[in-house]
Amino acid sequence: MELNNCGGATTMPGELDEGRRSFVKKVTATTLALGVGGIALQTGRFLKPNVLYEPARAFKVGDLSIFPIGSRIVIEGRGVEIVRERDGIHAVSLTCTHLGCLVKQVENDPDVAYACPCHGSTFAHKGEVLGGPAPKDLPWFEMYMDHTGALVVDTSKVNRERTKLVV
Ligand code: FES
Repeated sequence: MELNNCGGATTMPGELDEGRRSFVKKVTATTLALGVGGIALQTGRFLKPNVLYEPARAFKVGDLSIFPIGSRIVIEGRGVEIVRERDGIHAVSLTCTHLGCLVKQVENDPDVAYACPCHGSTFAHKGEVLGGPAPKDLPWFEMYMDHTGALVVDTSKVNRERTKLVV
């Protein structure tokens, strides 16, 4: 019988092979576990819908009572202003038609109603361009009253005729 002298310790030949086998088994088991785990993770990510959730383009802005005649109320986070006049109510986009900055309301000016802080475009009360680089008027969006009496603005539909909702 031949004895191995490994690092000063004397071992039998079978003991050394057993240690290698055990090591190879652990490496194989770990590699398999990592592989299966990776596949499971990727499968889970594949099954989850890869979509970008955006807010609905049609949204309620409230009851008519919160928009008194003569008011111009900005709907925060939506880039829309609700304007109520004697002959109806409408929704104006506050997104500048030049490069998309949000325009600001101009108070107490008979001609200018909106001004863009980015490059200085100005717009009249119905959204018409008065000056600056903006190429088009501010669009109006479709508005309607739903079955609960709430006013709804649909920013996916441009009101090309600029008709007011008569309420
Ligand atoms: S983005 Fe409004 S003028 Fe340029």
